[in-house]
Amino acid sequence: MIHIKTDEEVERMRKTCTLAAEVLLMIEPYVKPGVTTDRLNDICHDFIISNGAIPSPLNYRGFPKSICSSVNDEICHGIPKDRKLRNGDVVNLDITTYLDGFHGDTSRTFFVGSPRKSQMRLVDVCRESLDLGIKQVRPGGRLGDIGATIQQYVEGFGYSVVREFCGHGIGVNFHEEPQVLHYGNFGKGVEMKKNMVFTIEPMVNEGEPGLRVLPDKWTAVTKDGSLSVQFEHTILVTETGYEVLTRIDGKTPF
Ligand code: MF3
Ligand code: CO
Ligand code: CO
Repeated sequence: MIHIKTDEEVERMRKTCTLAAEVLLMIEPYVKPGVTTDRLNDICHDFIISNGAIPSPLNYRGFPKSICSSVNDEICHGIPKDRKLRNGDVVNLDITTYLDGFHGDTSRTFFVGSPRKSQMRLVDVCRESLDLGIKQVRPGGRLGDIGATIQQYVEGFGYSVVREFCGHGIGVNFHEEPQVLHYGNFGKGVEMKKNMVFTIEPMVNEGEPGLRVLPDKWTAVTKDGSLSVQFEHTILVTETGYEVLTRIDGKTPF
């Protein structure tokens, strides 16, 4: 069942989503060569707690940390650890907050030190594909409009869209219906309705779309070892279109 939010629930979604967006802004200056993903986890954890919220990933289905950190060929669900980031790494930090009974979910990819041109291109395409997907959101539209838009754009550059993971409804539950695929066909899929809330979170690989999950049971990596990047927003369907709940105007750079 897809839960359509009441206006009061939407207000609470705005608060938790704004906090998640603030975490990404807060952590940016710490993402530098030499920092461990454990340290980034701890800084985010403390910030979330000090704002009266709980990091949703912690203990979620056994996930051991408070954020996901996915480096280079890691697609998603990377577990923070005692690993120093190095110049030239690319890292996605995925932040989910639980505040006043509601979850907010957002992630972005950071460059560690100086990026290579090919890395910048892949990240630009992923960020832009999310933005184009978001612009498809409106009541009466179909989820397939979002997926088809993202897929077309990404594949036009010779990159590939990961298929095993998707966006999702979000609210009282971290993951709820509907599934929001990042590929598909225009005019197909679930019809969007006012006050639906879901994430869009394309994972884009430089190479082949295939993945495998590491023995830690969480970290998904590209089969071919190629670079993978991701951006994620939580989106509200409004009367006329959309509101990006995890974007702070004038601050959030995506
Ligand atoms: N935040 C991820 C998403 O966008 C889910 C992480 S699940 C976890 O859906 F357990 F790994 F935290
Ligand atoms: Co999500
Ligand atoms: Co997320």
